Amino acid sequence: MLSFVKYSKCMFFKSRTLDWESKVGSSCLPCISKHCYVGGGYELYSIECYVTVIRVFIQVRTFSVIRGLLVLLHKPVLKTDIYCICSVQVVGRGCYGNVWMGQLIDQCAAVKQLSLNNRQNFLNERDIYRLPMMEHENIARFIDATERQLPGKAPELLIILEYYPLGSLNNFLKHKSCNWPEACRMAHSITRGLSYLHTERLYKPAIAHRDLNSRNVLVHSDGTCAISDFGMAMALSRPFSGPLEEETAAIAEVGTYRYMAPEVLDGAINLSDHQTALKQVDVYALGLMYWELFSRCSDIFSGHVAPPFSLAFEAELGSHPTFDEMQQLVARERHRPVFPASWQDDPLALAYLKLVIEECWEQDAEARITACCAEERMKELGELRPLCLSVVSSLCTAT
Ligand SMILES: Nc1ncnc2c1ncn2[C@@H]1O[C@H](COP(=O)(O)OP(=O)(O)O)[C@@H](O)[C@H]1O
Ligand SMILES: [Mg+2]
Repeated sequence: MLSFVKYSKCMFFKSRTLDWESKVGSSCLPCISKHCYVGGGYELYSIECYVTVIRVFIQVRTFSVIRGLLVLLHKPVLKTDIYCICSVQVVGRGCYGNVWMGQLIDQCAAVKQLSLNNRQNFLNERDIYRLPMMEHENIARFIDATERQLPGKAPELLIILEYYPLGSLNNFLKHKSCNWPEACRMAHSITRGLSYLHTERLYKPAIAHRDLNSRNVLVHSDGTCAISDFGMAMALSRPFSGPLEEETAAIAEVGTYRYMAPEVLDGAINLSDHQTALKQVDVYALGLMYWELFSRCSDIFSGHVAPPFSLAFEAELGSHPTFDEMQQLVARERHRPVFPASWQDDPLALAYLKLVIEECWEQDAEARITACCAEERMKELGELRPLCLSVVSSLCTAT
């Protein structure tokens, strides 16, 4: 009986082994003993056969585990019934279409609606969101992307995201100022999102956003932020094939003029290392966003009233700066948004804040800090206390 069991086991693993071999080729299994194949009788049954069996077992198991992992990483998209999305109200308007607050069967969602003319942008954004390991608390949560045609209507492309009730950072700052801990928390969370985006992980390529600005950052109800709008984003693992003019232009000349780094405005981006160069371009825009965000931090203005929200360079160039104006101001004159006077006299927290902002928007792209480094800096900044707050709290304790 015992020998029968051993014999059957041996035959079973023989057939599994052959099955495996037919899938992956015998060269992948150099360790398999031929004893298992010939005869298959009890007389050839040996310790070696046991070892072989265990090895095959491990390999078959490993194969299934890896396959399982890959299936998981190629996340099956959570299918929504696209005909049941009921649009409630417009919550945002971007360059490519409207964003609606919609009601799915059991949840509220934001539905970005693009026309067929913007298919390239749609496909790019969808493909970036669908990359493995794109779930992160500081990256907008993707639900689905699909095309639909309602009866009597033109076909439309939809990107469905979690709905962020506080809207974009830009919108948030227009209507609300924040205190020091809130500003630091927001700045840290945006930077954490960017740092994650820029970092290559096991199955996730490094990604450059290429249109980072306060309209493309969403605010969670807990006051942290998530980066969104990946219509221009680019996965950076593909080696740049060479200075083909079309490709060079497609890589370099992208983004919103206001937030374009000097090297982009000047057409002087270093394409020989485009991965680093595109990350540096994102970090420049991050510096401008810090300026916009902390300019609405009431704690660091005398009298604790922050001035109304202003976009970077709005004071200098108004609401719709042209490419040429930006090029002149930022690339040629090396001008940057001015720090408020009340930020001058703090030797610690605000001096550090200004330093970090300057390290991000450096004229020389090589001298800019990385997003990962900026994340560290923002964490440290959150632990500092601006002088004006210490004065107020010491006055409170004295009285
Ligand atoms: N998930 C969301 N929740 C709430 N508001 C959103 C959401 N996604 C986008 N919005 C709003 O819509 C605006 C435009 O969205 P965006 O994705 O940037 O579109 P575009 O690619 O056209 O610029 C954002 O600035 C924001 O105000
Ligand atoms: Mg946008």
